[in-house]
Amino acid sequence: MSIRVLVTGPKMKTVKVETILQVFDNIDELPAEAASLMENAKQARLKAYAPYSNFSVGAALLLDNGQVVTGSNQENASYPSGLCAERTAIFYAGAQFPQAKIIRMAIIAGSNLSETSSPIPPCGACRQSIAEYEIKQVAPIEIYFMGETGKVIKSKSLANLLPLMFDKSFL
Ligand code: THU
Repeated sequence: MSIRVLVTGPKMKTVKVETILQVFDNIDELPAEAASLMENAKQARLKAYAPYSNFSVGAALLLDNGQVVTGSNQENASYPSGLCAERTAIFYAGAQFPQAKIIRMAIIAGSNLSETSSPIPPCGACRQSIAEYEIKQVAPIEIYFMGETGKVIKSKSLANLLPLMFDKSFL
């Protein structure tokens, strides 16, 4: 994310917030390590528990100790008690490997009822949660996301996906 000043007036500026992403035509175009992590996410998606939304999501994290940690969305009859795949995975990584840094995250998502071919980005709450770990480790987390098929989008960091993020510096 970058912020550029477009217009400067006497009492205010107009700024442009820019996010630069890379778009790959399909999973086969990814660098080998990212493709392999996306395969892990795909396997994790099969373990989603999504009887209410019928929308299954898988997430996989590669840690700098070589571990791959995965998660899937876990729903609940009391809807807000469920958890997204990305947070299931990242909280598990934080709980099990608190010293490890997260190198990248791969996310694959789609409806169980029809094929989803557009890339599905992580929700706002997941972005906020991932941001915490990116700040904690003082190193970017690459994010790759896709639908069941089709294009894959890469962001070089979480911060790039969450302009004007709220973080500990404001506390
Ligand atoms: N979901 C995720 O797992 N990750 C996201 O980033 C967006 C949504 C899940 C939550 C819920 O189980 C289902 O997808 C529909 O919202």
